[in-house]
Amino acid sequence: MHAVTIKQALRQAQHTFYGHESAQIDAELLLAHTLGCSRTHLYTWPDQVLSPSQIAFFESLLERRVLGEPVAYIIGEREFWSLPLKVNRHVLIPRPETELLVELALSLADASPHRVADLGTGSGAIALALASERAQWDIVATDLSADALAVASENAQRLHLTHVRFHQGAWCDALPTGSFDLLLSNPPYIAPHDVHLQQGDLRFEPASALSAPDSGLADLRTLIEQAPAHLKPGGWLLLEHGYDQGQAVRDLFLDRGYVDVRTLQDFNGLDRVTVGAVSV
Ligand SMILES: C[S@@+](CC[C@H](N)C(=O)[O-])C[C@H]1O[C@@H](n2cnc3c(N)ncnc32)[C@H](O)[C@@H]1O
Repeated sequence: MHAVTIKQALRQAQHTFYGHESAQIDAELLLAHTLGCSRTHLYTWPDQVLSPSQIAFFESLLERRVLGEPVAYIIGEREFWSLPLKVNRHVLIPRPETELLVELALSLADASPHRVADLGTGSGAIALALASERAQWDIVATDLSADALAVASENAQRLHLTHVRFHQGAWCDALPTGSFDLLLSNPPYIAPHDVHLQQGDLRFEPASALSAPDSGLADLRTLIEQAPAHLKPGGWLLLEHGYDQGQAVRDLFLDRGYVDVRTLQDFNGLDRVTVGAVSV
């Protein structure tokens, strides 16, 4: 067997993934995972030779990727808000669009003590991003799924963000008593028969994290209905939703009596987050 270098392994992988839009980054992430090194290392040491067991392991990862498995599940990690988060098949892979929810929360409340909850936390992405920015906030993270909460609390430990408390249960029923300044959620919002559920990474993610009845609006409606009983006067509810749900979500907020209701667009210019306050 002839020696295979990092440079050659990367070339082979990009050839295997030919036509995938993320071919280069996928190849780099899988090879860095195989070698237990950073992506920078791959370009600093292109002539490093792989051992036979490293080659075999790398090839097994390429095969899984070719069969469609998301890279984040293969390597067990995804970065969100520059935090490396453990992910597995029990949690949604955090999306860059969701950082908009974090940015908005940070702009609505300063660094002084506030009570904040992330409902349906999955990997803990939103709650842990907020915790990394706001040491004085009292942050609660909830999920219906015990498996998801296990991942989220492991992430909190790994990142030493121990001022986040985890509670299991359905939406606002899981919240401890007392009122909150901010409630945030990125709930399931894809319609159950949406064709996208059969495509790409979504095929591998938990259905309970992705889709909701009533054209995807059922969980958004529940949160909008329940949140005022858990918010202080002037407190905010921030919800991520589908690009085509902005008007419907604003209507739900307004029908429930929220004020200052508005929708923000993501970096693709698509409606992504709607926010409203409980009147003072
Ligand atoms: C779209 S994922 C969002 C995960 C994470 N917040 C993120 O943005 O990456 C929705 C999450 O809501 C949780 N969930 C679904 N139904 C729920 C319910 N009735 N009550 C609480 N959480 C629920 C799912 O388990 C999942 O973790």
